[in-house]
Amino acid sequence: MIVLGLETSCDETSAAVLSGDHRILGHVILSQDVHEVYGGVVPELAARAHLQKVDAVVARALEQAGMRLRDVDVIGVTVGPGLIGALLVGVSWAKAAAYALDRPWVPVHHMEAHLFAPSLENAEAEPPFVALLVSGGHTLLLHVPAWGEYRLLGQTRDDAAGEAFDKVAKLLGLKYPGGPEIERTAAMGDPKRHRLPRPMLARNQLPDDDEYYDFSFSGLKTAVVELVGRLSDEGVLDAERPHVAAAFQAAAIDVLASKTLRAVEQTGCERVLLGGGVSANRALRTEIAARLGEGRLFYSSPRLALDNGAMIARAARFRFDRGEIGGLDGSADAVLPFPGLVAPTPAG
Ligand code: KG4
Ligand code: ZN
Repeated sequence: MIVLGLETSCDETSAAVLSGDHRILGHVILSQDVHEVYGGVVPELAARAHLQKVDAVVARALEQAGMRLRDVDVIGVTVGPGLIGALLVGVSWAKAAAYALDRPWVPVHHMEAHLFAPSLENAEAEPPFVALLVSGGHTLLLHVPAWGEYRLLGQTRDDAAGEAFDKVAKLLGLKYPGGPEIERTAAMGDPKRHRLPRPMLARNQLPDDDEYYDFSFSGLKTAVVELVGRLSDEGVLDAERPHVAAAFQAAAIDVLASKTLRAVEQTGCERVLLGGGVSANRALRTEIAARLGEGRLFYSSPRLALDNGAMIARAARFRFDRGEIGGLDGSADAVLPFPGLVAPTPAG
């Protein structure tokens, strides 16, 4: 059973070939560089770049695997969430190939795929676990008792975690994508020199409910705006930049780690999985590992933590095994908003 996975939801064009036992036989991730000068992803440019590169990216992944397109048994593709023009390129490609080859195609939810990424490198990264999914567009805290069963504990009320890293990086005059830049700059700073708020962390900021896990990052961002404005007026921003990056990173990580650990306590589930681009952040991994204890934290290498086709292929295989295949009608929408997700019932 050979699965081809295709990812074009944002600014990575990626394809992977996965063997029947989930080994990565070929994998190409092409990060678009057209967005750098704009300091963020420009949807129209993303779609065009996918269109220009998708054939070559798939061809190269197949070549690495030593295969032809007709050797593929199943084609999995991200159908959402993501930029619609960008998604359309991958979905149209997958549907056309499936039709031409007379093979099934499988619609994949991008965030479910992030959950599967660590299992490609570590056979123990299987449920049950508490999952913290932190990407450029989402911040989700889930309890995952089994694959396909996702209990939503909390999510962001405004900016996503990665979005906060990107916006703060921009404020500090750092490049896009901001996450890795913040991490690099923060390593040279003192996180205690400036004190930034930890939104929705203190008990008195929460509803009277222990099981309260929602996140908010826009207040933290505003605090950075004010701090940067003041330091800039004083003419000391250049010298203070590493300290501001460190203070922001520490605040964001404190919130993410604390809520994750609270979920561990409340669910009694002592294993944690990190997924999404922000999970590439070493300080985040170290902090959660330290609070959790040995052998309980799972995450992937940075290559698989960021958007990639291998995780799409793996999630497609899971859905395919459950008999969930796409049609040539509107069935792609069936996996949205999130397959198997159960939201909490409102308290009181
Ligand atoms: O999962 P991903 O590749 O794409 C989405 O699904 O959104 O995540 C991209 C996000 C960006 O916001 C990027 O700044 C962030 O992940 N990111 C990081 C790091 N590497 C990437 N954030 C913090 N630290 C990092 N090392
Ligand atoms: Zn992603």
